[in-house]
Amino acid sequence: MSSVHKPQKSLVLIGLMGVGKTTVGRRLAQALKLQFRDADEEVEQAAGRSVSDIFEDFGEAAFRDGERKVIARLLEEPPMVLALGGGAFVDEETRARIKAQATSIWLQADVETLVKRVSRRDTRPLLRKDDPETVLRALLAKRQAAYAEADIHVDASGGSHHITLDAILRALDDREAKT
Ligand code: S3P
Repeated sequence: MSSVHKPQKSLVLIGLMGVGKTTVGRRLAQALKLQFRDADEEVEQAAGRSVSDIFEDFGEAAFRDGERKVIARLLEEPPMVLALGGGAFVDEETRARIKAQATSIWLQADVETLVKRVSRRDTRPLLRKDDPETVLRALLAKRQAAYAEADIHVDASGGSHHITLDAILRALDDREAKT
């Protein structure tokens, strides 16, 4: 187990749909005794409707506006673990804010693993358009360069979330040791 101290800045989890940002984020928050927040949930609360309904009723651009505002607000709060929706870090403004105010962690997994994981829920509007594997491959190609700007890159392909959690704690430890 690692000896990471309570971070001074929020830890923001980024990466494609299905990689486990929310599940791992909750565990990371518990391990570091920080509060956990999920950007999608916060957008839903602010809008009073689900992500799917926001996409359907107002379109993706409106969702992205809400997402940008909600994340900006959350970054002003005391340090937390924040799981983002898969597209949020691609937004230039959001990425700049996170770079200035938080530590970003990219959870990576191969597309085959993601496909298996996303098949468990049907709550993601972008995956309803085409077959999930095609969509996820296209999104990865489009988003990879932005994701790669994250401070920490962690492999989340392994079978279990606690392996990913340990990898994050180790990476945070290493970073702390260098500062
Ligand atoms: C999206 C990912 C979703 C949600 C929305 C759009 C994306 O979040 O924000 O459906 O653009 O990748 P998760 O990554 O938590 O599934």
